[in-house]
Amino acid sequence: MPNFDLWRLSGVKIGPSLLLPVTLYFGPGRRRVLPAVVTTFGRRVLIVTGPGTLTAMAEEVAALLRENGVRVEVLAVVDREPTLDMIGAIVATARAEAAEVLLGLGGGSCLDAAKAAAGLVGAEGEIEEYFYGSRQLMQPGLPWVAVPTTAGTGAEVTPNAVLTDQKARVKQSIRSEFLYARAAVVDPELTLGLPRAQTIYSAMDALSHAVEAYVSKGANDLTDLFALEAARLIPANLLRLQEEEALDPRTALARASLLAGVALANARLGAVHGLAHPLGVYYNLPHGLVCGVLLPLVMRFNLQVAYEKFARLAEVWGVGAPGDVFDRAAAAIRHVMHLNKRLGIPSTFRSMGLREEDFTALVEGALPSGSLAANPRPAGREELLGLLRELI
Ligand SMILES: [Fe+2]
Repeated sequence: MPNFDLWRLSGVKIGPSLLLPVTLYFGPGRRRVLPAVVTTFGRRVLIVTGPGTLTAMAEEVAALLRENGVRVEVLAVVDREPTLDMIGAIVATARAEAAEVLLGLGGGSCLDAAKAAAGLVGAEGEIEEYFYGSRQLMQPGLPWVAVPTTAGTGAEVTPNAVLTDQKARVKQSIRSEFLYARAAVVDPELTLGLPRAQTIYSAMDALSHAVEAYVSKGANDLTDLFALEAARLIPANLLRLQEEEALDPRTALARASLLAGVALANARLGAVHGLAHPLGVYYNLPHGLVCGVLLPLVMRFNLQVAYEKFARLAEVWGVGAPGDVFDRAAAAIRHVMHLNKRLGIPSTFRSMGLREEDFTALVEGALPSGSLAANPRPAGREELLGLLRELI
């Protein structure tokens, strides 16, 4: 596969309108294809997952693979958003076990951990060099297979892994076309029973991906198809799940999360994600919660340049009266605010520890973000400070 990031780095402005090099298996019960899928890449598998129910799910998948003669180790170390140390430990295990395939099973943290480790297993140098950009991945790593158990990050179809350097309090992505999963098996049954808070946070992360990718500077007619359909599906299905657990809305959210992932991988994101990473790392907050709080605020900030697309969002959400495009765009923003209210997502970070003395560091943390660079309305120091002031 051509490495478009390397081409871009060399100053060549070339890239596809849509790149989706992941073989997808989607639908309830589809996890049964895993033995056939995994064994096309190798017979020594390392499953990267988290503790508790995730370990139980991973053991179930491991048993299924072992029945098919596959050698499987389960590494249940992803107990929070992945750190550089955690990736180092997974890489060391993969090397020691001579793993041929990695399988990430869990939410975005598990998938990103498997993704980063797979990319780095064969790479020279230190993880920090790739994290801070002094080295780039030059070749594919180990093949890895994504098995998401939440509907949020879309990490099964994106070429970036969000990692945190805990010592330096830096949270950012490593990104390379070589990090794509070789296959993703998205079985919505695996998301049944996900606790309420995790369901809400994951879905608000996906909604932020959809809305940000839809209005991003990098959006095009093809990415819009994915972004708009993802945005359309999320609010109503998330609200349905507040009433009762059911496979239909779980399937719709899993589809939306995947579609939003395709959109963000190709169109990039915006100021929600630019600010979400420093806020998340400073106050140790769940990513989806931070995105949920930021989304309506950043939509208001972007209204003057993105009103036509916001009006289209109002249309697919069935809100706002036909007529003035600004009024309809405003109705879309109100719809997200109402959604947050019904889900119990606050409108500020006041109760979550946000302090004015951290503003400078938070802004400095957001400014280098590639997401911020794709925001449709330019947001520099002053604008970011303005947004933070509204959040306290
Ligand atoms: Fe996100």
